[in-house]
Amino acid sequence: MAVLLAIGAIVVLMIAGYLVLRPRPNLPPGLPALPVIGSLPWLDSKDPLGQLVKVHRQYGDIVTIHLGMKPCVYLNSYDVNKEALVTQKKNFSDRPDMFILETMGTTNKGEPGFTCSNGHIQTETRSFINKSLIQHFQMGTIKFENKIIEEILVLLDELDEHTSKYGPDANSGDAYAENGQTDEGIDLLMPLTKCTANIINKILIGQRFDYDDEMFMERVKLFEQDMLFVQKAQILNIYPSLRFLPIDVFGLQDFKQHQLQNERFWEKLINENKEKDSLMKLWIQKTKENSGSDVFNMNRLRFVFGDVFSGSTETVKSVVDITIAYLLHYPDVQTKIHEQIDEEIGRDRLPTLSDRENLRYVEAVYYEVMRLKPPVPLSVPHVCTEDTTIAGYDIPSGTIVMPNIYAAHRDPNVWANPEKFDPKRFIDENGQFKDLHRMIAFSMGKRVCPGEAVARMKLFLLFTALLQRYKFSVPPGVELPDLNCEVGLTLTLKRYKVCITRRY
Ligand code: HEM
Repeated sequence: MAVLLAIGAIVVLMIAGYLVLRPRPNLPPGLPALPVIGSLPWLDSKDPLGQLVKVHRQYGDIVTIHLGMKPCVYLNSYDVNKEALVTQKKNFSDRPDMFILETMGTTNKGEPGFTCSNGHIQTETRSFINKSLIQHFQMGTIKFENKIIEEILVLLDELDEHTSKYGPDANSGDAYAENGQTDEGIDLLMPLTKCTANIINKILIGQRFDYDDEMFMERVKLFEQDMLFVQKAQILNIYPSLRFLPIDVFGLQDFKQHQLQNERFWEKLINENKEKDSLMKLWIQKTKENSGSDVFNMNRLRFVFGDVFSGSTETVKSVVDITIAYLLHYPDVQTKIHEQIDEEIGRDRLPTLSDRENLRYVEAVYYEVMRLKPPVPLSVPHVCTEDTTIAGYDIPSGTIVMPNIYAAHRDPNVWANPEKFDPKRFIDENGQFKDLHRMIAFSMGKRVCPGEAVARMKLFLLFTALLQRYKFSVPPGVELPDLNCEVGLTLTLKRYKVCITRRY
């Protein structure tokens, strides 16, 4: 009997494999694939993004890679991303059913948060967030800007505590060493995380947390661990049944435990803050006005807000962190930023958004970092919802579609010397931006990052304020940080330390 069952299972798998992998002459070309395991044997787990760049060069702007049995189409250039996500947005704007997306982003009743939502739930959620930011929180005005600046001031105070005691060593010439004593430097990731988290906390729940608030620290740590879970558990997207393995190799149980803690955290937040002026108060009001709504209800609140919180915190802090690592490698770029800030703003006041047009080079530096290290390198998966064609190839309905931002940003047809770090590539002869629209770190089309405007404000104010006040350098005797990133939901650097000295 067992033998018959085994043979039956093999036959079913082979038929299923044939159905998925049977030659379909007009699918985009790509890596070879076998039944059941698809292209897995050809995937480079050590350097997945580097491999996707090579695959782009070898097979072209649009390629198919089979993740297990699922054909997955990668959009590798600016033009094909535009064709799919903008010109054909009707067919390419939904999210697929994927285990990790759903585990992280849906309520226990299966209601989607923001990122997993499709159809009217997605449209209405996005419109609520956009309208509230613009109409209620007056995004783009000084009032909104001040909310960000207040939090940056807290970060500067915190960092002042860690500025280097030492100057250049007379004997060794090492920066930040003296009489054999050295400054070990500080890891900026946690202070940056707390600052960016608090900026969005103020909007979402009307409250900021002290840097040593236990509940907040606990949440931030759990959140970091959950990001690691996503990294470890990617294979569950391909073979969701692996979650039933007797040993919890992916940390799924821990993750579920965190979800419960998260639920309690939100219950407490809602109880303590529901009367404060915040997006949460507006959501609760909407829930009362729309009883029985599948968009505005209390179950979705924490998932929608959780998506906005993680979208906002992980990305911005990662860009600032990676940019500072680049400045250690390129001290001349740091000097040029200091000069431009001194010239245009001076040292007597903090930068404001109105300084932006005079500080194009400063902005170009972190845009260049976002080109080379886009925080969400493969965007968030999309799905094709109707049989169609892109760049002349057939894309069947149900195909998973990955906007490959990472490869598009290294496309030699668009970027001269794509691997070179060169902020000046974004500046024209009049000192104004050029080619910026080809930097698609925020994606494009109907699902373009809803936080793009907020992110650009946060990045400018935070990065400029840090560089106005501090000089960053490598601790004596320590190697420059490794600029190769680890790939999770977002890109992150291996941890490194930096010495900070006040410039005035
Ligand atoms: C440097 C900063 C940021 C980058 C590079 C970035 C990038 C992205 C990308 C590539 C996507 C996926 C778009 C797609 O599916 O095609 C996305 C989605 C999203 N982002 Fe951002 N993001 C940033 C900051 C923010 C901020 C500040 C917020 C919140 C205020 C935010 C909230 C979200 C949300 C909620 C989604 C899901 C939207 C949906 O599914 O419709 N992001 N982001």
